[in-house]
Amino acid sequence: MAKQVKTIGVLTSGGDAPGMNAAIRAIVRTAIHKGLEVKGIMRGYAGLLQEEIVDMNSTSVSDIIHRGGTILYTARCQEFTTAEGQKKGAEICKKHNIDGMVVIGGDGSFRGAGKLSALGINTIGLPGTIDLDIACTDYTIGFDTAVNTAMEAIDKVRDTSTSHERCSIIEVMGRNAGFIALWCGFANGAEDILLPERYDGDEQALINRIIENRKRGKKHHIIINAEGIGHSSSMAKRIEAATGIETRATILGHMQRGGAPTCKDRVYASIMGAKAVELLCQGKSNRVIGYKHGEFQDFDIQEAVNMTKDIPEDQYQISKMLVR
Ligand code: ADP
Ligand code: F6P
Repeated sequence: MAKQVKTIGVLTSGGDAPGMNAAIRAIVRTAIHKGLEVKGIMRGYAGLLQEEIVDMNSTSVSDIIHRGGTILYTARCQEFTTAEGQKKGAEICKKHNIDGMVVIGGDGSFRGAGKLSALGINTIGLPGTIDLDIACTDYTIGFDTAVNTAMEAIDKVRDTSTSHERCSIIEVMGRNAGFIALWCGFANGAEDILLPERYDGDEQALINRIIENRKRGKKHHIIINAEGIGHSSSMAKRIEAATGIETRATILGHMQRGGAPTCKDRVYASIMGAKAVELLCQGKSNRVIGYKHGEFQDFDIQEAVNMTKDIPEDQYQISKMLVR
């Protein structure tokens, strides 16, 4: 018989992402609707180990759906990667009568969620990261807001770049994943997109394209560079020296992680939050919710974290073709 969950805990972990608050709101309100108790765990797994646990009710999540960040705060926690840390975390859950848990975060956070699940706490993961780098899902909470934020910022850089007939390197977030870079490359009509998954380090080829484009009359050359490649400032200096074209680097940084979530992030995060509670009510555990092939689905956590995801090659080729 399915375990009857009575008290649900919720935490956010890893990098924050716009829409996490919408997910928290949906989890709390769905749980209350189903007659369950809800506890918020502050600061991710670190807060769990410190017993930073608060009771939540419907008004705890009032006035947050439109806010970026996470009201529960977030953290990274080395101690929770150890077997002792995980055991302590599960014991603290039991002490607080938390028999169901929703973890909002990325792959690392899901690994932790899998451990909690194995220790008897029914746990569900929700994909929260601006990077879109979770393999089991085509959507992650925060990506839509982050790419829109980056796109708007890049439009602004483009205005000044064109006015001064400059080359601009704009660095977007994504240490290991180039999805933000690819999407901005498309949306901002960038002349070059440097992705951690694809960049071969051939700066001379980049320089040649800048020179060719200038000869063809292009007034600017926008290069979207992913954080994983980095070194935008030194790259700008080398490009300016080699081309004679004034070149500036702009690193967008953490502004991409903040701000009011887009409509899509509010809606999808809300649906995922509600579905996480429904799964717990069905006695399910060790699952991650994703959005795949046009519908919300759930996957085994271990299978989900073992899946791999790459930049779609056809999309990358189209992005390059469109700027020639
Ligand atoms: P993300 O969830 O965004 O991928 P991290 O990789 O930083 O972010 O992971 C967030 C937290 O999840 C870590 O600080 C750690 O507490 C926990 N975590 C990561 N990997 C594991 C693991 N293998 N086992 C248990 N907990 C983990
Ligand atoms: O995972 C989201 C992300 O914003 C990555 O794009 C980036 O590499 C990383 O987090 C930055 O983390 P921190 O906030 O620790 O600098």
